Amino acid sequence: MINEKRSHHCGELGKSNVGEQVVLYGWVAKRRDHGGLIFIDMRDRSGIVQVVADPDATGSSFKTAEDIRNEFVICVIGKVRMRDKDTVNENIPTGMVEVVAATIDVLNKAKTPPFYIHDDIDTDENLRLKYRYLDLRRPEMQRNLVLRHKVTKLMRDYLDKKGFLEIETPMLTKSTPEGARDYLVPSRVNPGKFYALPQSPQIFKQLLMVSGMERYFQIARCFRDEDLRSDRQPEFTQLDMEMSFMSVDEILELMEGLIAYIFKGALGKDVKTPFKRITWYEAMDRYGSDKPDLRFDMELINMVEAVKGSEFKVFNTIIENGGTVKAINVKGYATIPRRELDGLVEFVGIYGAKGLAWIQYMDDGTIKSPIAKFFSDEHMKKILKATAAEKGNLLLFVADKPMVVAQSMGALRIEMAKRRNLINKNELAFLWVVDFPMFEYDEEEKRYVAVHHPFTSPRDEDLPLLTTDPGKVYAKAYDMVLNGTEIGGGSIRIHRQDVQKQVFSAIGLSDEQAQEKFGFMMNAFEYGAPPHGGLAFGLDRLIMIMAERDSIRDVIAFPKTQSAACIMTQAPNEVDEKQLRELHIRLSLLAKKEKANK
Ligand code: AMO
Ligand code: AMP
Repeated sequence: MINEKRSHHCGELGKSNVGEQVVLYGWVAKRRDHGGLIFIDMRDRSGIVQVVADPDATGSSFKTAEDIRNEFVICVIGKVRMRDKDTVNENIPTGMVEVVAATIDVLNKAKTPPFYIHDDIDTDENLRLKYRYLDLRRPEMQRNLVLRHKVTKLMRDYLDKKGFLEIETPMLTKSTPEGARDYLVPSRVNPGKFYALPQSPQIFKQLLMVSGMERYFQIARCFRDEDLRSDRQPEFTQLDMEMSFMSVDEILELMEGLIAYIFKGALGKDVKTPFKRITWYEAMDRYGSDKPDLRFDMELINMVEAVKGSEFKVFNTIIENGGTVKAINVKGYATIPRRELDGLVEFVGIYGAKGLAWIQYMDDGTIKSPIAKFFSDEHMKKILKATAAEKGNLLLFVADKPMVVAQSMGALRIEMAKRRNLINKNELAFLWVVDFPMFEYDEEEKRYVAVHHPFTSPRDEDLPLLTTDPGKVYAKAYDMVLNGTEIGGGSIRIHRQDVQKQVFSAIGLSDEQAQEKFGFMMNAFEYGAPPHGGLAFGLDRLIMIMAERDSIRDVIAFPKTQSAACIMTQAPNEVDEKQLRELHIRLSLLAKKEKANK
């Protein structure tokens, strides 16, 4: 029962409140019995303050204090006083003061929680997810959600100032081809028919441009049935935007402004703009990744010229067959243990590399390398020059098909940076990766698929290639990358029906199929579609980096596990026969079981 109006929050009490009578509500974070005195760390969303129950001062309330346990919900009325010098706690903001309780009321009891409710717990994540409501009581989790709230508020403020309208688009919709599998929802009133949950609001936001909304945004939930990793969830949130009559340069500048605004507003950090821009090709060539981490150098060096004409058959054969050879220079690590080198061979193997070669350029000028014997002194000089090698450096080489070299060396670059502690955790390395290829060839489906999505505009100069050589077409697409994570992606869109048809045809959609799937959109383009483009940020990923966490699950209130399940509510779960019947659905799984039981 709430008899007294709350006067303060625990975490805001300080010197200026000394002498005041306060009414506090919150939870017992910890209770310590010191013989004659009982100390309670009292917690609410704002923080923790120490409450003292003294038998002389609190009378019968002292009895209550003796009985309370962790996580009881209490109301404390008392007076704020300075702590004794030797009991000041420098670790918490309220550490100078304490509240001497006059009364303590227990509003609710609590069972002993399955884990301690404080930061730095070492608890199995599944247990935290099962009791998520307790996990979210922990100060660090509360800070993450507060940060998330602040960031979305700042996003709304910035976009409102820039003339954007927040518009909701449907959740029950037709499938959008963003490349992942759809989550389907059966329709009861339309037997045999299904909605798809949106993979993104892509089509609707483009139609809003046709409607003349000019600038749209939405903090939109997206659903993708894909294999999960630490930075992916089956449902996640985008800050989704679309703009009419804007060039790539104008869009990127506006987005940089948005990012600078939220980092300043939420973290007080200055972000330097404009961001560096590199093309997709350059990113793959120099870093072996389309989302390079620029907090450290160690670029991939093309070694083809330096090793050409040597006695090393492996390299020669690979180069003759259209492959390539690249190296990285790991400074100061010539003394790498042999065991670690063997581990690195296995490491690049994960990415399909069939081997790894190394040169240890020792401090005394000697060279330790299993491949040195294949190279003349002249060749070795060229190799050391190309890699800018100095004494003490370790050179690592992979030779293979260009994509395998990029992926294995890109991953090795990051792995070595981690091992050598080269990553400055406080740095924010933003960049734009631009000019992505429009299509990539899907070996399984034996056809081209859109790298971004099929509404992305090819570069003007590449339009003629759409029908002749789709593999060579580049797109007006851009990704924003922060510290090696893709935090956002977007593009200028196709707004002409003829170009859209050519793109559909390039990805193997016949006119009829295109009409059946996206006819409504192609029709819309015939009624005066403005040139437009946009971008979507992965909100969860952005907040994860801002909160300095390694998993997006830590910045989502109720996330799913790696197997797309919610341990707390046990979703997904079986449903009643009756529900299924109403939806005109019969499970083949059930039919099989029944058969087996007969
Ligand atoms: P895209 O597919 O690149 O673009 O998604 C935009 C951003 O969303 C984030 N993201 C995810 N975050 C968590 N879990 C996931 N499963 C997940 N998938 C993507 C990423 C990514 O950069 N409609 C386009 C945008 C546009 O063209 O305007 C789109 O959805 O940070
Ligand atoms: P070999 O003479 O075949 O034993 O190879 C000599 C060295 O070259 C070994 O250290 C191999 O690991 C390395 N090597 C073999 N194939 C490759 C490759 N594709 N790229 C880089 N190094 C390789």
